[in-house]
Amino acid sequence: MARKRGSPVEPPADTATGDGLSELQRPPAEVLYAKELAHLAESDADEPRPKGWRLAPKSVVRFVLGDERQGVAPKFVGKRGFVERCVVALATSRGLMLIGEPGTAKSWLSELLAAAVCGDSTLTIQGSAGTNEDAIKYSWNYALLLAEGPSERSLVPAPIYRGMKEGKIVRFEEITRCPLEMQDVLLSILSDRVMAVPELQGELRSLFAHTGFNVIATANTRDRGVNEMSAALKRRFNFETVQPIGDLGEEMALVQRETDKLLSRSGIPMALAPEMTEVLVTTFHELRNGRTGKGTALETLTTAMSTAEAVATGFAAALHAWYYGGGRMRGDHLVQHLIGTALKDAPDDLKKLRHYFNQVVKEREGEAWKEFYAARDHLP
Ligand SMILES: Nc1ncnc2c1ncn2[C@@H]1O[C@H](COP(=O)(O)OP(=O)(O)OP(=O)(O)O)[C@@H](O)[C@H]1O
Ligand SMILES: [Mg+2]
Repeated sequence: MARKRGSPVEPPADTATGDGLSELQRPPAEVLYAKELAHLAESDADEPRPKGWRLAPKSVVRFVLGDERQGVAPKFVGKRGFVERCVVALATSRGLMLIGEPGTAKSWLSELLAAAVCGDSTLTIQGSAGTNEDAIKYSWNYALLLAEGPSERSLVPAPIYRGMKEGKIVRFEEITRCPLEMQDVLLSILSDRVMAVPELQGELRSLFAHTGFNVIATANTRDRGVNEMSAALKRRFNFETVQPIGDLGEEMALVQRETDKLLSRSGIPMALAPEMTEVLVTTFHELRNGRTGKGTALETLTTAMSTAEAVATGFAAALHAWYYGGGRMRGDHLVQHLIGTALKDAPDDLKKLRHYFNQVVKEREGEAWKEFYAARDHLP
C-alpha cells in the first residue's frame, strides 16, 4: 500500500523527538522508549522490587511484552513465563545466559531487559577472539598514567567496572566467541561481586558491586556453542533458551510491525502489503521448521531462516520496490532478496529452495503467491 511518491514524509513516532535523535540509525531502547519507561516507573512506585532496580519486575515484563491498557508497545514475542524467568534470574546472585539459534532476538531481549532494569543498555561488551581484559574490566589513559600515576582519573572504565560501580546491568554479547581465559574473568566477579584493582591504593584496590549490578550474556548455539564454556562459569549463570516464534500469525504480526517501523525510520512512506507479509513470513516459517502448514515434510536449509532475517528481507524488498519499482512491492522483489538471505554458501540449499517453489508455492492460492511463484526464474 504505497502512498503517493513525493508526499511529505512524517517522522516516525518513536524518533520524532525533535532533538536530533531521528538522525541516529538506531537509538538504544531506553531512548526509543523513554516515555514508556518513565510512565511505568511512575505508575509502579509502590510495587516491590529488587534493590537498585528502576522498575518493578512486573513492569519489566510489561515493558518487554507490551501492555495495551498502559499504552506500552509489544517489543518481544515470547511466552510470559519465559520472560518472567529471565527477569527473576537478574534478581538472583547469578547472571542470565540467553542461548539460542541466530536471529531469535537474544540481543534485542537483553537490550530491553537492561533498559528496563537500569535505564541503560549501552554497557555492552562485544565478545570476539580479540576481547581482552581491557575491554571487560578497565584500562588506562597512558598520558594521565605517566603524568599522575595510577588514579581513578587515569583509569578508563570498561563495562564491567562501570556496571559494578553504578549498579547497572552489563551485557556480554556472544560470550562464547571470547577465549576461555577471558570468559573466566567473570568467575570471581559473579561469585564474590568484587573486582581487584591492584594498581590503585587503599579502598580503591577493591571495587565492590553496587546493588542492581548483574550480567546478561548471549550465546549463539549454531556457530560456537556453549560447550566450550568452563563448568565453573556455567554454574554462575541461569541458562534460558530463546525459542524461535512458534505461531505463524504472531510471527507475521511482528514482521509487519518491524518492517513498517524500519521503513518509517528511513523516511519511506510505504508499508508492506499484508498479503506480501504473509508470503514472506510463511516461506521463512516453513523452511525453518521443515514442515508446511498442512504438515508436509520439507528439507530445512542450512541457513537459520530466522525471524530477524525475514524482517531484513522484507525491508530490503520494500526498499527495492520504493527506489526501482514505483513503490509497489511485487513477488519478484521478494524472491530476489530471499535469495541473498537463504542461499549463502551451501550449494544444496538452492535445490531445497527450488523444491519448495515447485512443490509448495506452486499450489498456493492468491495473487501474491502466484506472483511469488512466477518470479522463481530469479533463482540462480
Ligand atoms: N521473538 C521475537 N520478538 C521480537 N523480535 C524478534 C523475535 N525474533 C526475532 N525478532 C527480530 O529479530 C531482531 C533481533 O535479532 P537479534 O539480533 O536480537 O537476534 P540474536 O538472537 O541476537 O541473533 P544473533 O545470534 O545472530 O546475534 C528483532 O529486531 C526482530 O526484528
Ligand atoms: Mg545477537
